Amino acid sequence: MTISALQKARAQYQPKLPKSLKGAVKLVEGTATESVADQEDIKDLFPNTYGMPIITFEEGTDAEKFSAVNVGVILSGGQAPGGHNVISGIFDGIKKLNADSKLYGFLGGPGGLVDHDYIEITAEYLEAYRNTGGFDIIGSGRTKLEEEAQFDKGLEILKKLDIKALVVIGGDDSNTNACVLAEYYAAKKAGVQVIGCPKTIDGDLKNEMIETSFGFDTAVKVYAELIGNIQRDANSAKKYWHFIKLMGRSASHIGLEAALQTQPNITLISEEVAEKKQTLDEIVEYMASIVIKRAENGDNFGVALIPEGLIEFIPEMKILIGELNDLLAEGTKTAEIFQGVKRSYRREWVAEKISAESAAVFRSLPSGIANQLTLDRDPHGNVQVSLIETEKLLGEMVKAKLAELAEKGEFKGKFGTQYHFFGYEGRCAAPSNFDADYCYSLGTTASVLIGEGKTGYMSSVRNTTSPAEDWIAGGVPITQMMNMERRHGHMKPVIQKALVELDGAPYKYLLANRDKWATETSYLYPGPIQYWGPSEVCDLTTVTLKLEQEAK
Ligand code: FBP
Repeated sequence: MTISALQKARAQYQPKLPKSLKGAVKLVEGTATESVADQEDIKDLFPNTYGMPIITFEEGTDAEKFSAVNVGVILSGGQAPGGHNVISGIFDGIKKLNADSKLYGFLGGPGGLVDHDYIEITAEYLEAYRNTGGFDIIGSGRTKLEEEAQFDKGLEILKKLDIKALVVIGGDDSNTNACVLAEYYAAKKAGVQVIGCPKTIDGDLKNEMIETSFGFDTAVKVYAELIGNIQRDANSAKKYWHFIKLMGRSASHIGLEAALQTQPNITLISEEVAEKKQTLDEIVEYMASIVIKRAENGDNFGVALIPEGLIEFIPEMKILIGELNDLLAEGTKTAEIFQGVKRSYRREWVAEKISAESAAVFRSLPSGIANQLTLDRDPHGNVQVSLIETEKLLGEMVKAKLAELAEKGEFKGKFGTQYHFFGYEGRCAAPSNFDADYCYSLGTTASVLIGEGKTGYMSSVRNTTSPAEDWIAGGVPITQMMNMERRHGHMKPVIQKALVELDGAPYKYLLANRDKWATETSYLYPGPIQYWGPSEVCDLTTVTLKLEQEAK
């Protein structure tokens, strides 16, 4: 295999570990924990894995003797930079416990466990993946492990391979399911431990004990580089407004962090839109007002950041989407009739069948977007919100508003647009030093938890704004992060998703600066991720993490 010069040099990188993980490890157990809410319900559902203590690792003196252990690993959900280093950390960690330990990777995500599709990850095989981006070492997938039949099918192959522990690397849902699996195997006395690792570029799996999910750092740095480049182009050519949509299914952490790194003119935050119950029209007016102010200063250019999940946070759009889902749900009479309606008449046909409020919103949308809302549906018949080109929707609506104002003589500037969507560009980037170190530490932590016979824990590495040497590694009971939420009509135990907190330090920092950044051109150009060089450049954490830790 031919590899790039960077890959070759990067393969030599030895990820940094906290000092507690370098030699013998001593376990310190805290007091019993409780779930963040709904304690009685969670306790009933997880009798074997509820209430366990938080575990912290310290430097030990005597190296214990461990028996060889076979471990399985699964990558679940969307790619995030650093996954290969979590696997490297587990591999090196279990070999350190006992050189005869083995690591098996289930292929294509959780489905690999159910379908008995796996490989053994050997030292030679792993070598090419150390410090690289991507999940291609074993692949990933979005099959949800939630049925007992799946757990039993999985147990067959775990038994056959004599696997004593399974590590699930995933987001909030995958880790919720990992906990259900841990509980199920514990109740069955199956002899299989389950450990989770916090992954997702979206940054929405975090809490007091999990400071950040891996991949967020690298992915946002890639987007921030691209945004910085675009800002420099905008400021050079001075003729375009760039509308940039940023990935992040639901929470706006990526958009917020990218804004803190680049200081663009407009940053929309979905959580703020929901909190203020802003209408689409109000958002458009806000954006247009900034275009106008800048034009008055002679600046007919700018950059606006739009979070991917925005549309579902606009109350009126949420209602409209819900009504469209009902009207056009697969298998319904109305969906069938809709297929026979002439294309040119479809929009009006739909508008007549939904509530007057939703019809007004639907009629106000640019026709391309209205079309997308009725056509692009997922296998369950729901609108695929992530496919909606929100950046174009807003750009076109701002353009229409400015045209109205221009007629009244209230806008004299120019408004040319360029549209971008950044998401896949960052998900498989070569992990930054932070993610390379953090992921290797998470994997090593998982191996120690396995060696100590723990189950139902998530690897936790804290104090991450300090040098890696001083990071605090350990395990957090997954049940501690859970509460009960309504999902698909039923109350379920789930890990609380972390949305952007409007009283949190990162958002407050944006708020304190946003108006200045809107009118003045205060762009920051972060440039590409640096893997070598001065520590203040190549070991930088995200601004979100820095501000959150400083506020503690
Ligand atoms: P995870 O939560 O599984 O990590 O995935 C996050 C994400 O990258 C979102 O930001 C994005 O909306 C989605 O995955 C895209 O999914 P897909 O890879 O299936 O297109």
